[in-house]
Amino acid sequence: MQVTQNLSDLRVARGALRGSTGLVPTMGALHAGHMALVEQARATNDGVIATIFVNPTQFGSDEDLSSYPRSLENDLEKLAAADVDLVFVPTPDVMYARDFQTYIDVERVSQRLEGAHRPDHFRGVATVVAKLFNLTQPQRAYFGQKDAQQVVVIRRMVHDLNMPVKIVVVPTTREADGLALSSRNAYLTEAERQRATVLSRALDVAAAQYEAGERTPDALRDAMWAVLRAEPTAQVDYVSVADAVTLEELNEASQEPMLASLAVQIGEPRLLDNRLLPAHLNTVDGLTAHLGALS
Ligand code: PAJ
Repeated sequence: MQVTQNLSDLRVARGALRGSTGLVPTMGALHAGHMALVEQARATNDGVIATIFVNPTQFGSDEDLSSYPRSLENDLEKLAAADVDLVFVPTPDVMYARDFQTYIDVERVSQRLEGAHRPDHFRGVATVVAKLFNLTQPQRAYFGQKDAQQVVVIRRMVHDLNMPVKIVVVPTTREADGLALSSRNAYLTEAERQRATVLSRALDVAAAQYEAGERTPDALRDAMWAVLRAEPTAQVDYVSVADAVTLEELNEASQEPMLASLAVQIGEPRLLDNRLLPAHLNTVDGLTAHLGALS
């Protein structure tokens, strides 16, 4: 496994990879969720590139950029064990030279849900992901369902700007009790950790109602709220049932796949989770075909 930090070394190492290439962009602090993307990339491509970069432009000024968990040595060990070919670990000045002034703004899908809480977040994400695509020229790129809106924003960018890369969406990896793996779970106390299962429990109830034939978005949102209200320390930011491509909040019953999602603050961290409905679509094939998918 080769590790590169600057653009000229990356270019040489990328040029040496033969055949199809899969890219897994990350901010490091790798856990089993990240590694599921790497495994998926490894299974399908001749070459696998991972990137580790805590991207400053996607953090708000009040967010955890300086304290974001970093564990480079550990991360590189995991990537080597997973048979990754090339890892790009740039510093901020490699990615953003002093005179940097070009950003990608994916408009409407960036403004809802997470975007309402984090105004410039997806502009930073889209910009850095476009740069990583240009630098690594992958045929496929792998993103987690965990950040479903990120998937939708990136797929909109790829479609609108005709980027020659296929986006593959990998289901959320969870703890045994349902909590979605996240680097920010480390900020939970033991007691908060117990309560944090409320997100996946709320989504389970929505999925069960959908399975039983419920298609009215209000009823599905109410079902999630009922679970959340039973956990009074959970501060709910939003509970959403939206179109899985546009992320527009749904008011009418729909037969199209829906994205149920929620953001809840439990103690310090703000936790996210989501489920595509019907629930049988929460697989690589189902998510890749339906979450943010544009023809
Ligand atoms: P990061 O939070 O490090 O996540 C990297 C990738 O891992 C993302 O595609 C994310 O959705 C996926 N991921 C995280 N937790 C997961 C889980 N429990 N199950 C499955 N996949 C999971 O997302 C980012 O970094 C950044 O925004 C990035 C795309 C790298 C741009 O800076």
